[in-house]
Amino acid sequence: MTETRTLIRGRLLTFTGEPADDRDKDAYLYLEDGALLVEDGLITALGTHDELKERAEGAQVADHRPHLVMAGFIDTHIHFPQVQVIASWGAQLLDWLNNYTFPEETRFADPAHAERMAGAFYDLILSHGTTTAVAYCSVHKGSAEAYFEEAARRDMRMIGGKVMMDRNAPEALTDTPQAGYDDSKALIEKWHGRDRALYTITPRFAITSTPEQLEAAGALAAEYPDCHIQTHLSENRDEIAFTARLYPDCPDYLGVYERYGLVGPKTLLGHAIHLEPREISLLAESRAKPVFCPTSNLFLGSGLFDDEGLRGRGIENAIATDVGGGTSYSMLGTLNEGYKILQLRGQKLHPLRAFHWITRGNAVALGLEDRIGTLDPGTEADIVVLDARATEAMALRMERAETLSEELFILQIMGDDRAVAEVYVAGQPRLRRG
Ligand code: GUN
Ligand code: ZN
Repeated sequence: MTETRTLIRGRLLTFTGEPADDRDKDAYLYLEDGALLVEDGLITALGTHDELKERAEGAQVADHRPHLVMAGFIDTHIHFPQVQVIASWGAQLLDWLNNYTFPEETRFADPAHAERMAGAFYDLILSHGTTTAVAYCSVHKGSAEAYFEEAARRDMRMIGGKVMMDRNAPEALTDTPQAGYDDSKALIEKWHGRDRALYTITPRFAITSTPEQLEAAGALAAEYPDCHIQTHLSENRDEIAFTARLYPDCPDYLGVYERYGLVGPKTLLGHAIHLEPREISLLAESRAKPVFCPTSNLFLGSGLFDDEGLRGRGIENAIATDVGGGTSYSMLGTLNEGYKILQLRGQKLHPLRAFHWITRGNAVALGLEDRIGTLDPGTEADIVVLDARATEAMALRMERAETLSEELFILQIMGDDRAVAEVYVAGQPRLRRG
């Protein structure tokens, strides 16, 4: 019989809470010579290597010392059909959508194109250390099929949904309230909870949905309370003004989604930058989750997310790449630019909090911390191995690093896919370079 147990050895870091900084010892566990026992896709034991070595007798051993071993990264907002939109020159949000993004997404009507892009998309996120993503697919049902088929082939815990959009977009990129409802429902029935897949009800944003379509999205949300809901909120001033013209009877932008039953603890709201006090109160009451998208917010000139202000109200923020408005697949690169945005706001992002955010923090925002985002026994063995000396510049800087926090900060500010030494999905090594 072949041995299916693996002992993963390395410098282990995992979180039990959100650390403000390195004095918050209760919030994280760091083992200099740690080990994980992995069996049938799950982590079954965590401890020092000494503690686990007897129990792991006969297991395959993957020794990653001196690298760091932590939970795989979680990207809570990314657009799968935008792999060929990333780095498109342009103005701000609405022009960028009309000039590049919508025309590109029309190509996903072709299943062969969607399939090819899905393969590329998963290769990319994995090579950047991301083991779970929450994605917007295109309006075409087939794009979501390609997205979930590929996730199943790779045994990945992936979340996503086809966008519902029935106006203010090219004809080839619109559905109708009924078709958007029917296609989403069929996808939920087929994919939600199958293997590791989870479905997200995805009205793209208020501008591209009629009231009838948002009503249909709300009906789906009521029928499938187990599904997440994702959309965009208050990313850009022109977007907000246009939304107010389209929905003159709503008190504000979030009020549009509220009216149609789309605001609750499973709602992920991309960007959430320019918010009114009533909207912030509603976020706090409803426990909906704003999603900070730093590289996108800088690239599209959208604005500076108020992390501390929202957190101060008890709101749980997620963090994400938002490729292709975002400019990097890397959650490390995302932390780098997130750090700088918060600097401009006079706010801080300690590296321990940063690494918590892209692992357990995002899992908590998704309500999935019992399955992903930590190295806890019983959770799924999606793991990333990080090399803080991956580049010459990093290695030179590491010569002067004395603490774990310094090392993490080097990864946070200088890291990208080159710092990802290995990725495990459900316990299997999956890194492919080039
Ligand atoms: N708002 C609606 N659609 C999109 C999108 O594709 N990207 C971004 N950044 N914002 C959006
Ligand atoms: Zn987006």
